[in-house]
Amino acid sequence: MTTSASNSSRYYLTTPIYYVNARPHLGHAYSTIVCDAIARRKRALGIETWFLTGTDEHGQKIERSAALAGRTPEEFAAAISGEFKGLWDQLGLTYDDFIRTTEERHKRGVQHLFATLRDKGFIYKGSYTGQYCVSDEAYVDGPPGTVCPDCGRVTETVSEENYFFKLSAFERKLLEFYEANPGFMGPESTRREVVSFVRGGLKDLSVSRTSFSWGIPVPGDEKHVIYVWLDALANYITALGYGSDEAADQARFAKFWPADMHLIGKEISRFHCVYWPAFLMAAGIATPRSVRANGWLLFDQGKMSKSKGNIVRAETVHTVLGSDALRYFLLREIPFGQDGSFTFDALVQRYNGDLANGYGNLVSRVVNMVHKYFGGVVPEAGVSTVAEDSLRESAGRALAAFGPAFDEMNFSDALKALWALVAETDGYLTANAPWKRPADRPEAEHLALQARVLATAGEAIRIITALVYPILPESAAKVWRQLGQGEIDDSAKQAFLTELTWGGLKAGTKFGEPAPLFPRAEKDAVERMQQIEEQNNLSVVEAASGGTSLEKTAKKEIVVDEVSVKQAAGAKAQVDLAVTAVRAKALTYQSCPDTKPQSPTAAPIATAVQAPVAVTAVAATEQPVATQTPEEPQHITIDDFAKVELRVAQILVAERVPKADKLLRLEVDLGYEKRQILAGIAQYYEPEKLIGRKIVIVANLAPRKMRGLESNGMLLAASLEGGAPVLTGFLEDVPLGARLK
Ligand code: MSP
Repeated sequence: MTTSASNSSRYYLTTPIYYVNARPHLGHAYSTIVCDAIARRKRALGIETWFLTGTDEHGQKIERSAALAGRTPEEFAAAISGEFKGLWDQLGLTYDDFIRTTEERHKRGVQHLFATLRDKGFIYKGSYTGQYCVSDEAYVDGPPGTVCPDCGRVTETVSEENYFFKLSAFERKLLEFYEANPGFMGPESTRREVVSFVRGGLKDLSVSRTSFSWGIPVPGDEKHVIYVWLDALANYITALGYGSDEAADQARFAKFWPADMHLIGKEISRFHCVYWPAFLMAAGIATPRSVRANGWLLFDQGKMSKSKGNIVRAETVHTVLGSDALRYFLLREIPFGQDGSFTFDALVQRYNGDLANGYGNLVSRVVNMVHKYFGGVVPEAGVSTVAEDSLRESAGRALAAFGPAFDEMNFSDALKALWALVAETDGYLTANAPWKRPADRPEAEHLALQARVLATAGEAIRIITALVYPILPESAAKVWRQLGQGEIDDSAKQAFLTELTWGGLKAGTKFGEPAPLFPRAEKDAVERMQQIEEQNNLSVVEAASGGTSLEKTAKKEIVVDEVSVKQAAGAKAQVDLAVTAVRAKALTYQSCPDTKPQSPTAAPIATAVQAPVAVTAVAATEQPVATQTPEEPQHITIDDFAKVELRVAQILVAERVPKADKLLRLEVDLGYEKRQILAGIAQYYEPEKLIGRKIVIVANLAPRKMRGLESNGMLLAASLEGGAPVLTGFLEDVPLGARLK
């Protein structure tokens, strides 16, 4: 059997679907970010792309986690699934569909697949006694007490009447399939491991369980639920419409199946490269074209994972450096397929070296000079010299190297090739120094040099920006505007990567306004991220324990995520507020345009979220707020709290206020009205990074005037020790104007 030939006009790619027993961390974000970069490039190449992600919500592990958290599995799964989806949205990931395995469309498809396998004689009833790893939801060979070879946990003995899938019938077929499709799985280490597993002999696989009920019932024998991996793997077809009678679903399935790539973590290769093609072959469905395994993200020397307690959240990096910084780091630093260490130091080093001082600085120099010397209009380049020819050749080399490396998933090499062009363009600028006219150079000659150099450097930047767009989408969009090229997403829709050649920056093009791209990260960026993580972990535990002993609960790492879910399932908005707030000590940061942050004070809003921490109201005010030390708790009544109108708003405009270096002027949208607010956060937030962000404001604060401007409200933020505020936000989508109660 062979995979069907690739149809290059459409591309279907998938992430693994994530277990909902714990909140997302960077390890989960990694696969999803890689898929997003690929999907963006495919679309910009004019390929109709379908990018699927989602959550894996059934099974014993989830059932137990929900019970531990005192929630129903439905509530528990919905809360965590929402966190995944919310995070992907916050990071700007462009998935086309998000499937939850608890959705009806999925259940129907899985039951259809199970019935098909049974009707075709590949499923039979038997009994199973053996070892089972609940954490990996996997059967393990060995006597009672055997440890799971994947995660090292002790397995449980299961003795049940089960349905079995005739996996043993596929041993030879699979080996032939791998042989005939050498590109089916990668990297090479994955291929070797899978082939040797199959050569070692395949036993029939138990595909139902009776000892718990959180799953999809076996059609016609409802005391069995379908084995979670058969359920989960089927998401790749049920999301397209497999098992549906609707014409539109059938058309989507016919169009996009088989998948071009399942991107997975290396520890789940066996499920994707052995079980999945066997299920599909048995059901008479085409097999996917490829499976690619990413390595693990390591932190503190171990695989980042909830159970080890060594996790970093994507939100932390997003808050401090932005999501492009995270994308760039993951794709540049870690050769795809290998394990890679994540450290805050390496992240900041890459950010400053490659983005702030490299690409960002290059763009800013050129855009500013075009404005300064040519009124923001691209000049005629004139006759080129050896230097321009050489830069054009470098761009040709980058163009030739980037695409194939990226498409082979050598993202790191692709970026290296592109950054060679960044460096050459930088060197070209420095060598020609258009900002400096030697005394013996006539003015007309200097003007011609400036025109030639800036038009040529601008063109190099255009090429770099177009190529890097899938990896740095937010920043590339800003540069595209600055280069006068309009909206990069529109260019992507018009398949701009298909015709990317030297010479696209036309003389006469009006540049957009210069705007900073990657403000240099100062020394405290690492500390800020570490603090956010530490506070986040401790505070979630603290909030979970209702403010009881931190040390006591902090050790129970497994409880951390489960209890935060407990809250998430309840008063979600308040909990999100609390989760942001828990990063902080009880501080109120009162910022005045020209004064330093004030000493810590308790904020009354803290009581609203029932967390032993305070949310800060960041307003620009010229009055000192009353100070109160954390040792002197002062209670307010619910009526007091009800007087404060907290509402969700979105920032539409953010700009600095001239001559007030701490102050930003914001225009926010409350859904029912727009307002101007002045906030003393200019030292901590780049205005352009705030645009579009949803925040919480105190909406009924009396207006006050500062610097001749009226402020109508106050933002909420948590302040870290040292004074840097962290704005409140939501992981889930919340409508504008929604009130926090
Ligand atoms: N639910 C299954 C997948 C079913 S796909 C039909 C599952 N879920 S998971 O949440 O445990 O893992 C999802 C993915 O996240 C896996 O590909 C896993 O490798 C990846 N990662 C989780 N932690 C990771 C790192 N620390 N580093 C890189 N990826 C890791 O398995």
